[in-house]
Amino acid sequence: MNAPQPVSRYSQEFDLPVRGDTITADRYITREWMELENKHLWPKVWHLGGMLADLAEPGDVIRHNLGKESVIMVRQEDGAVRAFYNTCPHRGNRLILGEVASVPRITCGYHAWQFDLDGTLVKVQDPDDFAGGDPCGKVRLAELRCETWGPFVWWCMDDDVKPLLEWLEPYPERLKGYQLENWVRVLNVSADCEFNWKIIRDNFNESYHLPTIHPELATFINDGLPTTLFEMYPSGHNAMWMVGHQATTRVDYESGDVPPGLYEAAEAWGIDPKAYRGRTSAIREAVIEAKRRLGPSRGYHNYATMTDQQLVDYFHCTMFPNVTLTMSPEQCQILRTEPHPTDPEKCVFQHWCLYPPIEGMTEVMTPVGPAPFRQDAIQRHSTYGDGVSLGFVADQDLSIGTSQQQGLNSRGFKGCILPNQEKRVQRFHELLNDYVLGKD
Ligand code: FES
Ligand SMILES: [Fe+2]
Repeated sequence: MNAPQPVSRYSQEFDLPVRGDTITADRYITREWMELENKHLWPKVWHLGGMLADLAEPGDVIRHNLGKESVIMVRQEDGAVRAFYNTCPHRGNRLILGEVASVPRITCGYHAWQFDLDGTLVKVQDPDDFAGGDPCGKVRLAELRCETWGPFVWWCMDDDVKPLLEWLEPYPERLKGYQLENWVRVLNVSADCEFNWKIIRDNFNESYHLPTIHPELATFINDGLPTTLFEMYPSGHNAMWMVGHQATTRVDYESGDVPPGLYEAAEAWGIDPKAYRGRTSAIREAVIEAKRRLGPSRGYHNYATMTDQQLVDYFHCTMFPNVTLTMSPEQCQILRTEPHPTDPEKCVFQHWCLYPPIEGMTEVMTPVGPAPFRQDAIQRHSTYGDGVSLGFVADQDLSIGTSQQQGLNSRGFKGCILPNQEKRVQRFHELLNDYVLGKD
């Protein structure tokens, strides 16, 4: 008898081989691994620093803390955005202590050295008291690379890493139709969590957990293995197209009533769900047609630049190493984990939701409830487990984090055993190995 062949849903164009490196527990629990990442991973990748919307005027500043590092991004007088390490060249005090600021100059809180927006030192106490003469005009804040894509500002510590748009390939092109540059971050929540940052990265690199951790999604996202398309890009990023506005084909929703979730999604576009009894999968096409026909009159002018697939499906993009962006036509979710400054068994989880401007829309439904349509309408930081929601689906993902971290600490755990559909998890770890292993 022939051995069963794994179901492959990797697109032919974007399938890449993996080596089969063993994914052992040390990378999730040891200080040695954390140090390797601090030295060889985080300085070598682009980081999503924040929203351009927070940098509307010259002197506007956003701060991004990553582990022990802190970076500020500053809108310049000439309109450019520059990034600097958030440290004073005098004796190292952190310069900007809040998430956002608006300042005429950057002033250190210790001995009040002042820096122009371009990072040049312009004022010190007792300028004649320096052996080399007045340091103003000579000393500068340490600068790092800063580039923008869509509504986002990014920074990178390494001069040899590719330019941002190349680094992000193929997403800038693939996501063009959504016109993300106009979208507004309404939700901005985060939490301290009791697990390594990679636990959630692994989770976002597979859909194997959807039936078990997110059973509710099955009524309007087809999480069936044969229908989800996985892609692995040469840039190191991975993606997954999940068929939306269609119930899962893992169980028989097709022959009966339209399940809730899909029912409401159909009604929202003037489609009578009862007419689709026994042929529920046809609703997806009907929604595409209805969105094309009714979208403009309902203020959804942005539908015009989207493909049919973008109108109804979910494009789940992971960006190496730690950002996930999930697109639907009406919502962009960004989910990210970042390392704790000192503890490999902790991380910071962030969840942002962006929404497109829709004519007449003053309120949006976020994963934690309704909110006014404006930048950071909901913003909060909490400790996971304190009962503060980070969004229903995100809460489900986070719910496994602590127990997985605990289990990985067992002597009995010998390394992951992955099915074919978790090849993106394998690839992520092999890329990570390439970054950090064998380096000094
Ligand atoms: S440490 Fe900044 S002015 Fe002294
Ligand atoms: Fe999930």
